[in-house]
Amino acid sequence: MHFIVTGGAGFIGSNLVRELQQRHPGAWISVIDDFSSASFSNLSGFAGDVVARPCEELDWERHFGRARVDCIYHLASITDTTVQDQRLMVERNVEGFRRLLDYAQSRGMRVVYASSAATYGLAEGLMHEDQVPAPANVYGFSKAVLDNLARHAARNGMPVLGVRYFNVYGPGEAHKGRMASMVYQLYLQMKAGQRPRIFRSGEQARDFVYVKDAVAGTLAAGDGGAPGAYNIGSGASLSFNSLIAALNSALGTGLEPEYIDNPYIGAYQNNTQAELSRSQAELGYSPQWPADKGIADYVSWLEAGCPTLSCWQEPQAPVREVAVPEAFV
Ligand SMILES: NC(=O)c1ccc[n+]([C@@H]2O[C@H](COP(=O)([O-])OP(=O)(O)OC[C@H]3O[C@@H](n4cnc5c(N)ncnc54)[C@H](O)[C@@H]3O)[C@@H](O)[C@H]2O)c1
Repeated sequence: MHFIVTGGAGFIGSNLVRELQQRHPGAWISVIDDFSSASFSNLSGFAGDVVARPCEELDWERHFGRARVDCIYHLASITDTTVQDQRLMVERNVEGFRRLLDYAQSRGMRVVYASSAATYGLAEGLMHEDQVPAPANVYGFSKAVLDNLARHAARNGMPVLGVRYFNVYGPGEAHKGRMASMVYQLYLQMKAGQRPRIFRSGEQARDFVYVKDAVAGTLAAGDGGAPGAYNIGSGASLSFNSLIAALNSALGTGLEPEYIDNPYIGAYQNNTQAELSRSQAELGYSPQWPADKGIADYVSWLEAGCPTLSCWQEPQAPVREVAVPEAFV
């Protein structure tokens, strides 16, 4: 088997690569990543190929022309949602996908690409896939264009599926800095003994989805299901106050939130939640990590000194002998 993962040295991409390698020990995996927002350590011990090129510049024919590819997972993207340069955001995110689609379509390959809940914009509450896109920033806009291109390709018979991630958290996100999840940001503050700082009143809520569930949903889209976009969330909405309570419980601390005024009132999303009936029915997606369980698992991984990464650093074992990192079983 042969899989291509763009953005495979990033947060979700490296977790996906690891899971693919575990599920298909004999498979050849090609990662395409320009390392603009990645960490090589996410791929330590990885037994496949890495092409360090931006997707929008890659000559797909030259690299993969004769290869039989089972699925291309396209996760490469500018992920800094605060980037204001509209041309840069749209050009990089959209043109890379267009090139990939051109190549995959001519060879009838299956493609799963990362869409985002950002396409829903500031909408509140349960979000379903048929909602009219209303992106509130150019990042969300670029993802909505990916959805449009995919819909167009699907009309021409191409098996292309979008996974619309909500707020993903988990091992391998540290390189994202201020773009890492609130789970990680608040963990760092609390680990340093500080009271976690959040906007008043702390009852704003997000659909936080553990990366293991995000990966499971992505693989399910690679395995089957009709073309289209699919929500990949936990299906639940967790308030920041509850998130802090879960972190206190996992860390054995009792730190009270420190509330600060929200400067974005009127342009701030109070609540997000993925409606999952389509992903459940079509992909068989069923999240296994409710917030308390996912956060406890993540914190124990962090507290153990990120053991998966050191596990991956074991000397170039043949693919079949790569140890299964416990944190990812
Ligand atoms: N993390 C989340 O909560 C979340 C939510 C919604 C959607 N997504 C989407 O999921 C995907 C993965 O996000 P992530 O959280 O792992 O972020 P990430 O920044 O860790 O991963 C993105 C990866 O893509 C690479 N990359 C960026 N532009 C590239 C290009 N033009 N060519 C090749 N490689 C490029 C980066 O180096 C990085 O490795 C992205 O498409 C992102 O938009 C993530």
